[in-house]
Amino acid sequence: MDVVVVYETHFGQTRDVASEIAAGAKDAGATTTVVSVDEATAEVVNAADLLIVGAPTQVLGMSRPWSRGLAHPQEVGTHGDIADGVREWLVGLPAVGAGRRAAAFDTKLPSALAGSAARGVAHGLRQHGFTIIGHPDHFIVEDAEGPLREGERERARAWGAELAGAVAAELRAPIAGGEQP
Ligand SMILES: Cc1cc2nc3c(=O)[nH]c(=O)nc-3n(C[C@H](O)[C@H](O)[C@H](O)COP(=O)(O)O)c2cc1C
Repeated sequence: MDVVVVYETHFGQTRDVASEIAAGAKDAGATTTVVSVDEATAEVVNAADLLIVGAPTQVLGMSRPWSRGLAHPQEVGTHGDIADGVREWLVGLPAVGAGRRAAAFDTKLPSALAGSAARGVAHGLRQHGFTIIGHPDHFIVEDAEGPLREGERERARAWGAELAGAVAAELRAPIAGGEQP
C-alpha cells in the first residue's frame, strides 16, 4: 500500500510532522513518499492509496499568498506575496474517482482561538472526490517558528500508523469478503 504525504511549510514544522506521519505509516507496512506541495504532481497523487495533506495554520486557516509573504519578510518584504501553497494546490488538483482515501492535518499554535488549516484542507480534498478518513488532526507548535510541542512527533508517528493500518485493512476487506461462500 502506498501512502503519499504532501506538506506546505515555512519554518520546517509541518515538514517534520509529515516525516513522522510517513514513518508511522511505514511502521504499519506502507510504502511512503513525502513531498512538498511544489513537488506534488498529479502523478504523485495518483500513486497514493492514502493521500495525507498537511498545512500550517496561518490567519485562522490555510495560508494565503500574503500570509506566506509575512512568514518570509527578508525575501519578499512585509507586503510581498508567495504564490503557491496547499490552498492553491488544492484548486489545481484533478478530481478523483470514488473510493480514494485522504486525511488532513495542520500545525498550529496552542490556542482554542487559533483556527485550523486542516478543516479547509479536508474540505478541499472532499470537493475533489476524496473520502476523508479519521478526523483532521492538529499538531501544536510552541511558537510561529516552532518548535513542535513535546510529544507531538510521537503523536504524529502514531497517527500515521493508525491511518495506514486502517486503510490497509479496508483494502484487504473486499478480497477477504470475496472469499466468503
Ligand atoms: C503570518 C502567520 C500567521 C499565523 N497565523 C496563525 C493562526 O491564525 N493560528 C495559528 O494557530 N497559528 C498561526 N501561525 C503560526 C503557524 O501555524 C506556524 O508558523 C506553523 O504551524 C509553523 O509551521 P511551518 O514551519 O510548517 O510553517 C501563523 C504564522 C504566520 C507566519
